[in-house]
Amino acid sequence: MASKLIGRGFLLLSLTGGAGMAQTPKLPDGTGKEATVKVCGACHAAAVVATRQETREGWSAIVEDMIQRGAKGTDDEFADAVDYLTANFPKTAAVAKIHVNQASAKDLETQLSLSDKEAAAIVQYRQEKGDFKSVADFKKIPGLETAKIEAQKGRLVFTASHQ
Ligand code: HEC
Repeated sequence: MASKLIGRGFLLLSLTGGAGMAQTPKLPDGTGKEATVKVCGACHAAAVVATRQETREGWSAIVEDMIQRGAKGTDDEFADAVDYLTANFPKTAAVAKIHVNQASAKDLETQLSLSDKEAAAIVQYRQEKGDFKSVADFKKIPGLETAKIEAQKGRLVFTASHQ
């Protein structure tokens, strides 16, 4: 029976997880934390979730999987858990891309940790000279600390603005 298998998985996780349920999981506070600890902490430490970073779809699939394995809770509790997990353990690679030819000054400022002046200078340059084609273009912007851009170049996307 499947329950035997689940039992084994549970044992394994309790051992590898060390303290099991006795240890209060170090999960960040936030809306839905209580529901998450309740519905996700019954078999393994709820803190197991901290080992993964997923999109909302990814977390929904994991929660579905856990329900298949026997996780018990109300629909609301599972929905709260998905919200909590998505907010606190997001897949960062997906959200981290910055479309430099489309992003607003505000987005550039927050996502690239720039000053508002630097972000404004980027947008102004873009308006005057057209789309950025590579990181090198940022070096032509007066008053911009290009090291900040260089450090983030893996996240930059240079799709043309009129596409
Ligand atoms: C009925 C018992 C049970 C409950 C409740 C439960 N899980 Fe699990 N969970 C398991 C088992 C068993 C495994 C080990 C699966 C394996 O070894 O493939 C696991 C593994 C995991 C893993 C690690 C998976 C991986 O491959 O990295 C994550 C993440 C996870 N659970 C999240 C959750 C979340 C989120 C909830 C709450 C919605 C939850 N679990 C509730 C039984 C449960």
